[in-house]
Amino acid sequence: MQNKIIITIDGYSSCGKSTLAKQLARRLDYVHIDSGAMYRAITLYLLRNDIHLDIEADISKAIENINLSFVKNDFTGTSDMYLNDENVESMIREMLVSERVSDVATHKSVRDFAVAQQRKIGINKGIIMDGRDIGTTVFAHAELKLFMTADVKTRVERRFKEMFAINPMVSLEEVKHNLEMRDYIDSNREISPLRKADDAVVLDNTLLTMDEQLDIALQLAYERIALPMAKN
Ligand code: DC
Repeated sequence: MQNKIIITIDGYSSCGKSTLAKQLARRLDYVHIDSGAMYRAITLYLLRNDIHLDIEADISKAIENINLSFVKNDFTGTSDMYLNDENVESMIREMLVSERVSDVATHKSVRDFAVAQQRKIGINKGIIMDGRDIGTTVFAHAELKLFMTADVKTRVERRFKEMFAINPMVSLEEVKHNLEMRDYIDSNREISPLRKADDAVVLDNTLLTMDEQLDIALQLAYERIALPMAKN
């Protein structure tokens, strides 16, 4: 039987982490988990329930009422994020959530809650998880760690296309501001800031096609799958 490994993909906002993770999962027959979706779903819950986003004690109490799960969508073939049994996959991508999620993700109780679930999901390996702290904190012993990046202009254009499809009223400036703000908060927070793990492979996809990037990642994955299993 083939070795199952853990693949982590970290990087700045809108580098195409989830796109690559989904393609890799399909090719390797692995499970893909978008850890950002969990932070977004938590943010949606807190906003809906008027929880003060600066008060750690209130957030910590509110989290006790949150149940998160990923459910396979037979139509898209990917997993949708469920918050307390409600499919919130499209709602968590809206600007209101994008504007607050990085602040919410700085809180210790939020990170402890999300990281514990992420580790549980990865227990049997055969998983590709993307986010900001997956290779540094969640699965520090993962067999393959990728750190994705691309220049800001390219990332803003990609994000704008995604956001415009959801809401044609969105402006390029608004998207650029949100992306830069999130990168700043994610990279400078106290707990598990976004950074490249020492043993991560950098994948700058500014000038790569999706096929080229997939080929590079698949090659690395096949090399690691042939290696003996690492402890996690
Ligand atoms: O990947 P994304 O843009 O959907 O993530 C949304 C936010 O969630 C991101 O700005 C920071 C936070 N996040 C995090 O702190 N740690 C992760 N592993 C994933 C996301």
